[in-house]
Amino acid sequence: MKRVTEFVPGVHYVGANDRTKHRFEGLWPLPHGVSYNAYLIEDEKVALVDTIDAAFTERLLSSVREVIGDRPVDYLIINHMEPDHSASIHAVRQAWPDITIVGNAKTLQMVEGFYGVDVGCGVGAGAAGAAGGSGAGLGSKTSANSLIVKDGDTLSLGARTLQFHLIPMVHWPETMVTYVAAEGLVFSGDAFGTFGTLDGGVTDAQLDTAHYRDEMVRYYSNIVGKYGVPVQNALRKLASLPPLRTVCPTHGPVWTGEFPQVLDLYDRMSRYEPLEKGVVIAYGSMYGNTAQTAERLARELAARGVRRVVMHDLSSSHASFVLRDVFKFSALVIGSPTYNMHLYPPVQALVDDIELRGVPSRVFACFGGFTWAGAAVKKLSEFADRMGWEQVAPPVEVKQGYSLEKTAAIAAVAEAVAAKM
Ligand SMILES: Cc1cc2nc3c(=O)[nH]c(=O)nc-3n(C[C@H](O)[C@H](O)[C@H](O)COP(=O)(O)O)c2cc1C
Ligand SMILES: [Fe+2]
Ligand SMILES: [Fe+2]
Repeated sequence: MKRVTEFVPGVHYVGANDRTKHRFEGLWPLPHGVSYNAYLIEDEKVALVDTIDAAFTERLLSSVREVIGDRPVDYLIINHMEPDHSASIHAVRQAWPDITIVGNAKTLQMVEGFYGVDVGCGVGAGAAGAAGGSGAGLGSKTSANSLIVKDGDTLSLGARTLQFHLIPMVHWPETMVTYVAAEGLVFSGDAFGTFGTLDGGVTDAQLDTAHYRDEMVRYYSNIVGKYGVPVQNALRKLASLPPLRTVCPTHGPVWTGEFPQVLDLYDRMSRYEPLEKGVVIAYGSMYGNTAQTAERLARELAARGVRRVVMHDLSSSHASFVLRDVFKFSALVIGSPTYNMHLYPPVQALVDDIELRGVPSRVFACFGGFTWAGAAVKKLSEFADRMGWEQVAPPVEVKQGYSLEKTAAIAAVAEAVAAKM
């Protein structure tokens, strides 16, 4: 019987699916769940690449034992220290006490600081110093049970040699990837990862991957989206390696044949380039007046041949889906009532999300409402100024109830936005 989980000879999937977590990082809804991926390499030495979320530690240990039986695990490679991947370190070391924990200086310092796992580097200080003097190509042993590696260092497992490449700030400072030349394979950490469980298959060849694309954009825009420049640097580094045949992220499918498309997606997202032409209308509304402006705008866009109009009522759409669509589409129109002389709170949250990610340009327009002293449109215009985004048409401002008198002004916004499609 074929093992789906041994997707490359000697390389096994030992991660787990989480279909019960409500919010990833306490923030992001998981309509398709999430997988925590860990991998086991069976060679003369056995290496475990990353661990998984604390809730699934036992699952990890039993998956590893299913593969190697009573053989010990010789190395634990930590590409990314975030607890959704590192939380099982204690248990792994208890299960295989002679294991050597492998990471860069920043990683090992975090392992001590987070989990109190003694990796012999001293919390917060001296770790890099301890690595000093490591011979070319080989990491330095900092204690009996840890190995500090630097950019480009290698570690032989027997037939295979691992090579470590640092990709800082994708999306933590300690992040690295582990490259296996023999297989043209890279363990990429969160890079190229996506929400969504692995239902049956593990690789893109074994799964229907259609729904992962949008979830990858949502994962990227929300979690990694601020770090476009570090992602571009990482992509350049990966491009300097011989062509990758298999890419193993810490969430979602292992990419093989579809990797070129995934790479292209990452390249475009990290350059903040829209993925599709289309208009996102994101608005807040308490009593329906701003909503009516939004509806009218959508109709006026459709009347001008714009078929891709995506509406988000910010009181019902979760912010993570809205931000996904801001990354995905070329135009954004935001609407807000005035609320205590500010933006309506979920609208404020959206503009903060966008500003924090530093999205450099979008086709932009805005609209708003008020009853006695308007501030919403002014605040949205200030937001556009801070972003360096040009407004393609004058904002539409509705005083009190929505009125058909605004139709011409709304049509002018639609005309200007449609002209950019
Ligand atoms: C809590 C609260 C605070 C508000 N603050 C302001 C304000 O500072 N200035 C103003 O002109 N209108 C203010 N308004 C009125 C709304 O902006 C106005 O009713 C608007 O038309 C609501 O749009 P909507 O129908 O899309 O919800 C406030 C309303 C509420 C409920
Ligand atoms: Fe992460
Ligand atoms: Fe992660």
